[in-house]
Amino acid sequence: MGEILTPDPHPVLSAGRGGHLVIGANGGIGSALYSRLKASVETVWGTTQRDLNSEDPQLFYLNLLDSPADWRFPNASFDVVYLAAGICRMALCESDPAGTSKVNIDGMTRLARFLSESGAFVVFLSTNQVFSGNDAFVTENAPYRPLNEYGRQKAVVEEFIKQHCPRSAIVRLTKVVEPNMAMINQWVERLLNNKPIEAFNDMMLAPVSLSLVVDVLVQVGAQKKPGCYQISGAEDVSYLVLAQYLASCLNRSQSLVQSVSALDKGIKKTFLPRFTTLSCSSTIALCGLIPPHFSEVIKECFQRVAAANEYGVRI
Ligand SMILES: NC(=O)c1ccc[n+]([C@@H]2O[C@H](COP(=O)([O-])OP(=O)(O)OC[C@H]3O[C@@H](n4cnc5c(N)ncnc54)[C@H](OP(=O)(O)O)[C@@H]3O)[C@@H](O)[C@H]2O)c1
Repeated sequence: MGEILTPDPHPVLSAGRGGHLVIGANGGIGSALYSRLKASVETVWGTTQRDLNSEDPQLFYLNLLDSPADWRFPNASFDVVYLAAGICRMALCESDPAGTSKVNIDGMTRLARFLSESGAFVVFLSTNQVFSGNDAFVTENAPYRPLNEYGRQKAVVEEFIKQHCPRSAIVRLTKVVEPNMAMINQWVERLLNNKPIEAFNDMMLAPVSLSLVVDVLVQVGAQKKPGCYQISGAEDVSYLVLAQYLASCLNRSQSLVQSVSALDKGIKKTFLPRFTTLSCSSTIALCGLIPPHFSEVIKECFQRVAAANEYGVRI
């Protein structure tokens, strides 16, 4: 890595054409995006908050909890920066709003402003949780009505970015369902062994695949049109419906899928929006996104699990 620069007190990253940077390049979405960009963009950088013992010279340490004076950047200009880091566990945000806000609000807003002032186009990953869940297919400009702390923190950062980062895009996602998801892996393993699984009948999602999310993020970064973009599945389904479909793909009995209530299991109502779907109009206009049916997302998970066919999976 070249000379190391620090953002405070004299930000010196230069504006103009430069590399792409993924903040949170070890995360679920960040790592997939980082890999994809490496295949298509000349210079790609990534950050991690873990101890650096990586062979990858493009990966550098950055912790949102540190003072900005302690952040160190490579001597490079960043054309596009993806803000894909943060504490995403909703239960943790709820139980420790002050601690999680230090990362999700304080650190993120400082970093967004610094990178924007240095000339980068900033892409912030957000969520349907900024809305109440009372309506389906919420439009891009609907008012914020978060039900929980995670959604509140995201809404605060969105507002900040809209005000302070003129060259920026906010990309809201519904639930990303991908092959490495622990819940999917556990379900598949248990169903294959003819063991029962429990699935919530009152927790909804509008799943999207990781590859679709990465496709859209790459397009948003390539086109650099400021605005708000949403990526959503085509309909709301319960986790129960998802599990039942999974069982049918695996040729397993539907009786293995037990319907349970998240509320009865102690999950707060504020984590259970009735609707999670988002309107995708601006993303369709940008890059022709087709909101996926949940079955396509599940099928894609299987296509990426090399062993799937061994089990006679119907896809
Ligand atoms: N996954 C979804 O279904 C979904 C849905 C809607 C929105 N989103 C949004 O998409 C973004 C990425 O989500 P994800 O699922 O990829 O999350 P994730 O797998 O939990 O990754 C979070 C990333 O944040 C980094 N991070 C955590 N604390 C940090 C800190 N103090 N300083 C610097 N980096 C820190 C982690 O770094 P290390 O890896 O180095 O520890 C990790 O790379 C988030 O903003 C999330 O709100 C995700």
